[in-house]
Amino acid sequence: MPIDMREQGRIWMNGKLVPFKNAKVHVLTHALHYSTAVFEGIRCYNTPKGSMIFRLQEHVDRLFKSAKMYSMKISYSKQEISDAIIKTVRASGLKECYIRPIAYYGYGVLGLTPTPNKIDVAIACWEWKTGESTAGKVRGARCKVSSWLRIDSRSQPMQAKAASNYANAALARVEALKDGYDEAVMLSYHGKVSEGSAENIFIINNGEISTPPLSAGILPGITRDSAIKIARSEGITVFERDIDREDLYVADEVFMTGTAAEVKSVTEIDNILIGDGKPGKITRKLQSAFFEASRGKDERFLEWLTPI
Ligand SMILES: Cc1ncc(COP(=O)(O)O)c(C=O)c1O
Repeated sequence: MPIDMREQGRIWMNGKLVPFKNAKVHVLTHALHYSTAVFEGIRCYNTPKGSMIFRLQEHVDRLFKSAKMYSMKISYSKQEISDAIIKTVRASGLKECYIRPIAYYGYGVLGLTPTPNKIDVAIACWEWKTGESTAGKVRGARCKVSSWLRIDSRSQPMQAKAASNYANAALARVEALKDGYDEAVMLSYHGKVSEGSAENIFIINNGEISTPPLSAGILPGITRDSAIKIARSEGITVFERDIDREDLYVADEVFMTGTAAEVKSVTEIDNILIGDGKPGKITRKLQSAFFEASRGKDERFLEWLTPI
């Protein structure tokens, strides 16, 4: 199998920067068997003022909230993790990258109960390839409403960015790809629109934006929050409200947001064209506003960027 990342720089493991190739875990690591891990996905962008990490503090806060929901006690402070993320990016020599911090129950006792094990923390970064996010940027994405429901938050805390949520997400993603679509839209147990497999979703009608509330079992996306703040700063109304499957089909525009996807246009759902089947005007405006904000080109949002 090809390795889809250049093995360059170092990976931070429990306080030490180790060469990329040496950042290994034991096959009996608890998280590998029981999904007992929480993680983050963060981007570092090359800006006119140098490389900057996008909304670092919010990502670190979410990592700690995810850990708390699973009663995982990370033995580093938020400041130590933020500093370690910066150190890892610096050590990579990359100007732009994707950053993956992960906290997981490690190797020691392999039974269902995770707590006898230590919580290990690792931070890696690698060069970002646009492959996954091309659909929706260059052309509109074609989506399928998944036959897999988003896990209900009565079953596990879906506001946590936990590894255990992603078997559900991967089933939906693979189903959509096998059926010839670019991405899945997942419904909640209540039949309401929840989110994509790794993106939040928005619809636009008559110039107003709506997006499912956190109670739809979604991840509180940091790009979602950025898009809402950018839209409101442009005077666009944004509602957080329940959205029905039918609302998707008749929306003027649909778009998705995520650290990987940024802002991506959805132009077809279940073979029904959204609007005229082309990326919509407001979506394109938000796409470029998000691009400007994340690349340090919008003074109003410079506080979202942390220099490395
Ligand atoms: C399930 C899910 N929803 C939404 C998002 C978008 O969140 P963010 O904008 O913080 O990347 C992600 C991204 O990882 C995700 O995995």
